[in-house]
Amino acid sequence: MQVYLNGAYLDATMATISPDDRGFLFADGLYEVFLAYDGRILLGEPHAARMRAGLVALQIDTSPADQLLPVADRLLELNQLRQGPALIYAQVTRGAAPRRHSFPAPGTPPTVYLRVKQFASQPAELFANGAAAITVPDTRGSRCHVKSVALLPNVLANEAAHAAGALEALFVRDGVVIEGSHSNVMAVIGDQLVTYPPCNYILTGVTRNCVLDLARALGVTVREGPIFASALADVQELFVTGTTLEVMPLVSVDGRPVADGRPGPLATRLLQEYRRLA
Ligand code: PDD
Repeated sequence: MQVYLNGAYLDATMATISPDDRGFLFADGLYEVFLAYDGRILLGEPHAARMRAGLVALQIDTSPADQLLPVADRLLELNQLRQGPALIYAQVTRGAAPRRHSFPAPGTPPTVYLRVKQFASQPAELFANGAAAITVPDTRGSRCHVKSVALLPNVLANEAAHAAGALEALFVRDGVVIEGSHSNVMAVIGDQLVTYPPCNYILTGVTRNCVLDLARALGVTVREGPIFASALADVQELFVTGTTLEVMPLVSVDGRPVADGRPGPLATRLLQEYRRLA
């Protein structure tokens, strides 16, 4: 089986990609699946257009969308699939680069992979008699408590922060600041340390839990509850926690200063205590 990878047609067993590929690390990419009958690609243009639109949305170079149909055609030829039904799979990722959420250096080439195989329709009996389905709750996007590599929304959020000259992007759900793109968020409100409760909409950080314990040990009252985005102007302190950001004070959000625009005493103290554990 010949496949296409990054400009070359090669045997499938020889096609390898870097473990630093952002598709592997972050699900930072997209794909298309389409059919060909006797070498004629079905609905090729709309598939290429959807890929192009997706690449534009993800700010990935759109040239893979231009190559999509010619490369698919060549693969059908190379694999003797110009007769009968064939299925084409195409995937493009933001390419390979050392792991960080924001985009890699400009010029990092996207990874482009295409593969074809024979297509078999579902059994005729099913088309004749119909098939069964089940219902499931729509939990897509609601499994943030799993430290999954499906991080595309986090990547795009973090890149938006970088583009705005900020370090972190804070996710707001229903008016509540729930967590960062790769961190948890805490605020000092009144005399309490407030952070979002563990649930399926956030990753309950190991650092978060440790910092809450450190705060309690200092006699601080911890409340697991909402930090309202509309009330950020009123918090005494705001900071994020995470393995890579440690305990990072936030002094501005959306260009507006937090409190007096300087790191607060609790964040500073908690960073000290946290680093003491090392
Ligand atoms: N991310 N929330 C999200 C969405 C995260 O990705 C992370 C960490 C955290 C904090 O978790 P912890 O305190 O266990 O590191 C919260 C890692 C650092 C990353 O993706 O690089």
